[in-house]
Amino acid sequence: MDAIKERRSIRKYRAELPDRKLIGEVLQAGMLAPSAKNRQPWKFIVFTEKSKEQLLRAMDAGLTRMLDDSTIPQEAKTGLTDAFHTLKIMQEAPVLIMILNTNSGSPFDGISPADRITEICDSLSIGAAVQNMLLKAASLGLGTLWIANTFYAYPELAAFIGTPSQLTCAVALGYPDEAPPPRPRKKPEDVAEYR
Ligand SMILES: Cc1cc2nc3c(=O)[nH]c(=O)nc-3n(C[C@H](O)[C@H](O)[C@H](O)COP(=O)(O)O)c2cc1C
Repeated sequence: MDAIKERRSIRKYRAELPDRKLIGEVLQAGMLAPSAKNRQPWKFIVFTEKSKEQLLRAMDAGLTRMLDDSTIPQEAKTGLTDAFHTLKIMQEAPVLIMILNTNSGSPFDGISPADRITEICDSLSIGAAVQNMLLKAASLGLGTLWIANTFYAYPELAAFIGTPSQLTCAVALGYPDEAPPPRPRKKPEDVAEYR
């Protein structure tokens, strides 16, 4: 409960690279998550230093392509400013973990209803793994940010990583350089119902 209550999304990081052993403990927490039919559909790729710089160059190229492409409708571009802000945070964080769904491909490809159900279940499983990772990191004194703005640069990131697997999300990790207050939550009566 302490880790659940004290975890925050961290958007400012110290430069110090956490020990590989600590990163391993965070990954291990993810791997212990429940998963639909125990498929364990996740793969974690850890980027630091040079490889992280290269990954983020690919993300920058993707976001810039979106911004410059006049054929992409304006409504598809809302959120790009936020994505560029997330990119800056990713540049500051010393560790980036890309989380792949090894049972799915690009979310921009068509999908049958049966495959969609499998994909939803695998996404839920990956969400459980990521939350385990965030809580473990918090208990180790590490800060994290769960990131989905990677979708804005999907083709560039997938090509750079060189995978047909689905890039589900990313987690930024490092020693926090801020201690933000808790963000607001909806009231229990607005989100929970007893029948
Ligand atoms: C699936 C998911 C994707 C997210 N993507 C981003 C992101 O791309 N950039 C960002 O700054 N925050 C991102 N967040 C963090 C949320 O904004 C944050 O969790 C929320 O505002 C609540 O704040 P808290 O985590 O400090 O409680 C994401 C969170 C989740 C769960």
